[in-house]
Amino acid sequence: MPQLPESNDGTSIATNPSAEAELGSTTDTGAPAPSDRNSLTVGADGPIVLHDVHFLNQMAHFNRERTPERNVHAKGSGAFGHFETTGDVTAYTKAGLFQPGVKTEMLARFSTVAGEQGSPDTWRDPRGFALKFYTDEGNYDLVGNNTPVFFIRDTMKFPHFIRSQKRRGGNGLRDNNMQWDFWSLNPESAHQVTYLMGDRGIPASYRQMNGYGSHTYMWVNAAGEKCWVKYHFHSNQGVAGLTDQDATRIAGEDADFHRRDLYNSIEQGDFPSWTLSVQIMPYEDAKDYRINPFDLTKIWPHADYPLIEVGTMTLDRNPDNFFAQIEQAAFEPSALVPGIGFSPDKMLLGRAFAYSDTHRHRIGANYQQLPVNRPHVELNTYTQDGPMAYDHRGDDPVYAPNSFGRGYADNVGEVDPGWESDGPMVRQAYTLRAEDDDFSQAGSLVRDVWNDEQRAAFVKTVAGHLLGGVTGDVLERAFAYWKAVDAATGASIEELVREKADLGAPGAQPDAAKAAASDPITEPDT
Ligand code: HEM
Repeated sequence: MPQLPESNDGTSIATNPSAEAELGSTTDTGAPAPSDRNSLTVGADGPIVLHDVHFLNQMAHFNRERTPERNVHAKGSGAFGHFETTGDVTAYTKAGLFQPGVKTEMLARFSTVAGEQGSPDTWRDPRGFALKFYTDEGNYDLVGNNTPVFFIRDTMKFPHFIRSQKRRGGNGLRDNNMQWDFWSLNPESAHQVTYLMGDRGIPASYRQMNGYGSHTYMWVNAAGEKCWVKYHFHSNQGVAGLTDQDATRIAGEDADFHRRDLYNSIEQGDFPSWTLSVQIMPYEDAKDYRINPFDLTKIWPHADYPLIEVGTMTLDRNPDNFFAQIEQAAFEPSALVPGIGFSPDKMLLGRAFAYSDTHRHRIGANYQQLPVNRPHVELNTYTQDGPMAYDHRGDDPVYAPNSFGRGYADNVGEVDPGWESDGPMVRQAYTLRAEDDDFSQAGSLVRDVWNDEQRAAFVKTVAGHLLGGVTGDVLERAFAYWKAVDAATGASIEELVREKADLGAPGAQPDAAKAAASDPITEPDT
């Protein structure tokens, strides 16, 4: 029977049975801590004195224990592992980590997007798929999602998009009407919203989802030849999704369902893995390919650019400390290595700024010096000082060039991972190509990829979402949006919503929110 502590009056340290065996606790300056149990007071019933510095330090540090949560992707889970290159893609990239036989340590973080830190893992949302490879040439971060496309094609829209998916200014609530308002006013979202409402919209676990780099990147080989590349990480656990009904139940039973699953499976030695394949587009093809290959709302059909296997990523080590290793992990699409570059994708180029900027705000200017973010190679950077600077170069020259042998980078001439560009300055998301439109690829996902059962589930999911408070013009526009994706599917969605919400003929004023509360479409068939 364990012995209970006897009192709280601070008279006897022996009330903790294991006290003698333990290392005594210390203050943050390393002296023996006076007490972790009682504050220092003037008499047992008197006030706490200001010079109880151990107590003050405990309180002050506690008040600062949280960093701001990530503005998006706040709820996430992660693990360490390695990536092993088993294929041969040397014809396409000189990047060290993708040379045959190379094994690279890495960190992965999976996340939901719109929810806050404590939000349920099973809300319908894309999932982040962020990878940090600690390569011999510096850190390479591939910060993707579990979908190969995205809602918008110009970074300018990103803050507006995210605000529409988060909470309203007035009541602090999320609002389906606001979400559909944004989506239906930005029809390039159709492909991604179709994905999101489909049977991959809520993964069964982080282990059972694919990951995509989503953007088009550039690869450069040892001879300096360039090509365009898209990354696909296919889950070796298979892909599985949750129904709305299961997801809602699990959200109530265990908000950390996906975090628990990932942690437990690694703890039990059941290490999840993903096979990386790439699609390669020859550099010149991009100039006249029938769709714009840099538009993040589009995929490249595999018939045009088939998958080429590169290697396997395996996660085999849980973090020892969630805050230090997952919460303070800083992923940034701007962390590239030789042989890998940006493309003219306007989303990717915007992201090249956004992440390091938010890390400086969220974690601090020297976030790169934290063990989880620090590259596993020697640094010789002139970036110096700032809050919490830990790494330094003593009295080495702090400027370049210098006369004392400290490095100086002065590359001139052709930029390795670069491309040609010319034309007047415009504000325009790409020049449209022959087959560029907002709806065809979403339509072919619905018609050609899904079977009847998947289509029927999709209709129910979309209708259920619309019945969750989408009204007026926004609802009418949502019907038009789905009819543009696929006429028959759109008509089924409209029919179901009108029937459940008792809306009557098109144009009648709906009261969908009331209908949803009394007769949720996402309830199981009986
Ligand atoms: C996280 C910005 C698009 C995937 C974030 C964060 C910001 C951000 C500010 C928070 C980072 C942090 O605090 O650590 C943007 C902007 C975008 C954009 C401005 C507009 C172009 C995308 C796209 C993808 C993506 C297209 C996927 C293909 C992620 C992931 C995270 C994230 C996975 C979480 C990283 C982690 O686990 O720490 N984004 N994002 N984002 N974003 Fe984006």
